[in-house]
Amino acid sequence: MKPEDLINMTRLALSGEESDVRLFAAQLVRKYRKTDPKTASQLEDLLKSAPTRSSSVLRKQNINTDTFQVTSISDPQINGLLKYEFSTPIERPLLSTSIEQSFMQVTAEHRRVEILQKKGLKPTSSIIFKGPPGVGKTISARWLANELDLPFYILDLTSVMSSLLGKTGNNLRAVIDFAKSHPCVLFLDEIDAIAKRRNDESDVGELKRLVTVMLQEIENWPACGLLIAATNHPDLVDPAIWRRFDLEIQFSQPTETQLKQAVNEFLGDDAADFAPWMEEILSRLKGSSFSDVKRLVSSLRKLRLINPNRFESTMLEKLVPDLGLLSRAERINMAVDWVRKFDMPILRAAKMFSVSRDTIRKSI
Ligand SMILES: Nc1ncnc2c1ncn2[C@@H]1O[C@H](COP(=O)(O)OP(=O)(O)O)[C@@H](O)[C@H]1O
Ligand SMILES: [Mg+2]
Repeated sequence: MKPEDLINMTRLALSGEESDVRLFAAQLVRKYRKTDPKTASQLEDLLKSAPTRSSSVLRKQNINTDTFQVTSISDPQINGLLKYEFSTPIERPLLSTSIEQSFMQVTAEHRRVEILQKKGLKPTSSIIFKGPPGVGKTISARWLANELDLPFYILDLTSVMSSLLGKTGNNLRAVIDFAKSHPCVLFLDEIDAIAKRRNDESDVGELKRLVTVMLQEIENWPACGLLIAATNHPDLVDPAIWRRFDLEIQFSQPTETQLKQAVNEFLGDDAADFAPWMEEILSRLKGSSFSDVKRLVSSLRKLRLINPNRFESTMLEKLVPDLGLLSRAERINMAVDWVRKFDMPILRAAKMFSVSRDTIRKSI
């Protein structure tokens, strides 16, 4: 081993950042595999046998949300890798029965690794999530990690790809080595970012290498961990890549029943107070994603707390659907409805739905 590697390793060890030590060790394994295979394999064994200590060794970043803390891995080699730590119980995603069943099987397989391995079987260790934005890919990955009691890391490939492309391959390798060095869930978000750059002629060679890295790594993912990749644009991802995942899960926009369930769940203990507006809320949310539901519902709940007196009218304004999507007859019906049901002044209803006051008066 070269003296500078020893010095670097000592420096990292003294700084007490365990994740950096692991990361650097994983790089050394790769570096010395050819020239000094004995040292490389000893190092590799060490990495595999030593359990990760508490994650407090990771440098904290000033991002703090309700449910988890985010830390960024402090090695400059690794751009964009975030570690999420769960502090309070995390939200359980609303899922279709078939996705829920798949998830239950995955967690059961991981809990029974020994039984599977006796028969030469390996638990599901790579999954690809496909589907539009805001339907639960990220929170499902987080939820799975939590169920499996494993640390959770997110690598957003758009941020990696926007850094110098020449470095992306090394970056991706470093992240993958790091994730493979201990049991964890690695979430590769927006893997289509790799494919999107394919049009750029100058990048072709580098992109091919990246795709090769991905292909090799997906298949050899350790049984004790889980690699999850997500994409909003499955058509952009090389089919050779997604065929190698053990499991493919298609996420879809919520159905009407799921929308209703989501609204009720997000309303929490305010559900009874919002019951009179349920129909309007649901009609406003037609075709929306779960994250749109979450956004609208939180905004309405806050509005009610901040502005209890003018709540009803301000809320109705928020619930006006996209008028472009409504026919004139539908607009008239809604205007009339809101005047009747919520005592909205006719003038206001007329303005809101772009119909004349007379039309509303006539229909009441
Ligand atoms: N299936 C779901 N069940 C419950 N909440 C959801 C679901 N999907 C999305 N959400 C809400 O929307 C937010 C964004 O979801 P996210 O998982 O990041 O979507 P995606 O990764 O598919 O773009 C979540 O924080 C959550 O509040
Ligand atoms: Mg996401």
